[in-house]
Amino acid sequence: MARSIFITGGASGIGLAAARRFWREGWTVGIGDIDEPGMARVADELSAYTVRLDVRDRAQWAAALSGFIAHAGKLDVLLNNAGIARYGMFEDVTPDESDLQIDINVKGVINGAYAALPHLKATRGSRLINVASVAGIVGSPGLAVYSATKHAVRGLSEALDAEFTRHGVDVACVMPFFVETPILDAGSKGSNRTIRDAIGKSPVYTVQDAADVIWRAAHGRDREYIVGKAGRQASFARRFMPNRLRKRMKAAFAG
Ligand code: NAI
Repeated sequence: MARSIFITGGASGIGLAAARRFWREGWTVGIGDIDEPGMARVADELSAYTVRLDVRDRAQWAAALSGFIAHAGKLDVLLNNAGIARYGMFEDVTPDESDLQIDINVKGVINGAYAALPHLKATRGSRLINVASVAGIVGSPGLAVYSATKHAVRGLSEALDAEFTRHGVDVACVMPFFVETPILDAGSKGSNRTIRDAIGKSPVYTVQDAADVIWRAAHGRDREYIVGKAGRQASFARRFMPNRLRKRMKAAFAG
């Protein structure tokens, strides 16, 4: 029986690139997304199992995973990838926009962990992979609440990795730096700027780079995987030069 992966947010961006990568490697691929036209295109291209899933809805989670397991026979990896961003200064992002990020990026990931655990427990060598962000390592101005959601995903992953050992389930957390996907065009109601405007001279990595790292996270022994050298540098600066990093960030946002 082929190994199987279920990917949330697999109709676009990083999730789609991961779907293509695992499918090419012979895995059975399932995709849950709210973008039904996007999923129809992927289903044609990859003969992937697709199901409408809003990660905020626990009943939909249960149905999506049992449908996928009926199709694939088992669940080896859940890739909790679906996520959204709202860019802008804290007061320009509305409370509703902040709630939405928390509901999708944090509660959606927690819902996925609850729904998948019984299925992962039943599969030897299974894994939960959560997509956080380098914004889950460094608090990111312009993305304050988004950054908070990604810190939450990183902390959750660290705790669950220890807890789920007794179930034989490993947990990994993938933290991309900027990756070229539609999320870079995210703004917010109170700001006409987008993440793309904030990139400046920073590098932007490809979805293939991210998919390669997710592939490694599905096979390697580490708990945290960063996508992009700039992300590893940011993580290093946060850890070993926090005051210098703080000064740089304050200077960039002083005006
Ligand atoms: P994307 O916008 O291309 O893809 C996100 C997918 O999630 C879309 O297909 C969308 O329909 C789906 N989605 C949104 N809300 C959903 C919901 N409630 N239920 C189910 N599916 C939903 O964005 P991208 O960049 O591929 O993002 C994937 C993950 O990578 C996200 O968690 C994001 O925060 C993270 N990330 C992205 C970075 C980047 O620069 N692109 C950097 C760091 C992390």
